[in-house]
Amino acid sequence: MTDEEIDRPQAMKIRQGIQDAMTYSLPDKKFSEKNIDLVEIDIELDNLGWNFHNYRILNLTDIHLGQWINPEYLDELIDYVNTLNIDLITLTGDYFSYVIDEYLDALEKSFKKLKAPDGKYGVLGNHDHWMGSQKVRDIFNASDIFDLSNDVVTLKKGEDSLNLAGVDSCTVCADDLDKVIANLPPNIPTILLAHEPDFAKQSSQTNRFDLQISGHSHGGQFIIPKFETTPFRGPNSTKYPVGLYKVGNMTQYTSKGLGTNSFRIRINCKPEITVITLKTSKKHKILIE
Ligand SMILES: [Fe+2]
Repeated sequence: MTDEEIDRPQAMKIRQGIQDAMTYSLPDKKFSEKNIDLVEIDIELDNLGWNFHNYRILNLTDIHLGQWINPEYLDELIDYVNTLNIDLITLTGDYFSYVIDEYLDALEKSFKKLKAPDGKYGVLGNHDHWMGSQKVRDIFNASDIFDLSNDVVTLKKGEDSLNLAGVDSCTVCADDLDKVIANLPPNIPTILLAHEPDFAKQSSQTNRFDLQISGHSHGGQFIIPKFETTPFRGPNSTKYPVGLYKVGNMTQYTSKGLGTNSFRIRINCKPEITVITLKTSKKHKILIE
């Protein structure tokens, strides 16, 4: 699907104007790790080989660069991410909001700085398509980020394997799950990157994915204390808007994301960096001397 064929929201120009006005109306937002929710979760996968036990995946999503998050903030955030002890980085879309050209260089510079021993893998979000998917894919290329849109890679450690798959944004109908499944090596634990969390309804039904990682919702930008959920749910994030879910046999994790859309309001809903530590469900490591 080309960028010309994508359905864009009405009044795009007005949204761009509002973004500019909002971003320039307040003093620069400074990065501080105190204002970030570093969410560390363990997720057990069936049949995960011992070589991937304690494997650490860091996910960043919904940066919305230029809408409240400025390039300096992102640069400092990336410096912080590089201090965390992780194996691999995943990126689940919406790097831009309604303005792109002014921020292309800044995103590329920050993404080039991102470091992970086993590499960086990403998919696109609906905003990336609205703004120009090729521009985002060019940044991926320049920053050594593997574009997992409707694609699969298989990671190997010793005799163990782990599939890492991705679907393109379903909001703009760029998802092609059939293509992913056709290329998915069987009988290997599999993680799916999907920008929109409610894609879990489709992906879980295939019984081919153990974990889906998503963003898109920003946690509704308001989380009800004690209930840890949000009443504010947009298209494709009505069922699984924030946190951990079990959908059929699949685990769904929805991050609160880093940026904000529309108003700069987050109540009980800090921007999030997620670190997922994979655990094997195998009970014993049998050592043969
Ligand atoms: Fe989104």
